Amino acid sequence: MQKPIGVFDSGYGGLTVLKEIVNKLPQYDYVYLGDNARAPYGNRSFDTVYHYTLQCVEWFFNQGCSLVILACNTASAKALRTIQQNDLPRIGPAKRVLGVIRPTSEIIGTFSETKSVGILATNGTVSSNSYPIEIEKFFPGIKVYQEACPMWVPLVENNEHESSGADFFIKKNLHNIFEKGERIDVLLLACTHYPLLKNKIEQHIPVGVKLLSQGEIVANSLEDYLQRHPEIEKQCSRNGQRQFHTTDSIEDFDSHATVFFGEAVQARHLDLEG
Ligand code: DGL
Repeated sequence: MQKPIGVFDSGYGGLTVLKEIVNKLPQYDYVYLGDNARAPYGNRSFDTVYHYTLQCVEWFFNQGCSLVILACNTASAKALRTIQQNDLPRIGPAKRVLGVIRPTSEIIGTFSETKSVGILATNGTVSSNSYPIEIEKFFPGIKVYQEACPMWVPLVENNEHESSGADFFIKKNLHNIFEKGERIDVLLLACTHYPLLKNKIEQHIPVGVKLLSQGEIVANSLEDYLQRHPEIEKQCSRNGQRQFHTTDSIEDFDSHATVFFGEAVQARHLDLEG
């Protein structure tokens, strides 16, 4: 039986990825789950992020999804590997869970001439060291500098991303990362919330520095994956439909989602045991 592709995030951020996926591959059906009731994940422990993410992956599998994208860097950094290696053989040996860190790491080096890249992310993603480890596999020798920006997600979640308060924290974190790596010529927005801050970030970076968001990269990588894995592709339904679920208030989700996804959505509520 064919089923939608699952797209997961701790909250709204994954909608910036889903938007690009839908642009690229509109023919498929998608089911989105935002674990808003337990977001943000960025400052939570490995165990907690793993436990929450696994619970959400199991929910997608119970809906029949054969393919789930963790459109969240924090979940990809802290839970994906364990789920793929330890849980999938037990809960869905024929199913697949993919993240956002690998497809980004596979390509990031091609954008840099100075061979110095900067990663802007949550505390969880930075402390996992996933980006330096993955990028080294594809671009050995490239210098990777990281900066945790713990205030950026709350700014976006609270609709303050266009305020002067946002400028303060953006300037502070950008100053820090360029102090660590002055030759950085590519900055990755390694958190799915950050594309909403793109306009402001662009105002505070040196001319010539490229700002990368992940949505398009992940969408291209998914297209490629589906071409290379017909056994998974043929299990994905194709009616151009999207469903949205949140573990918190549907009213809040619907009003925020418009900003992240760029069109109106109508979410359903989902209760997950804690
Ligand atoms: N969207 C998540 C990410 O990409 C961050 C949000 C959170 O902290 O939950 O890392």
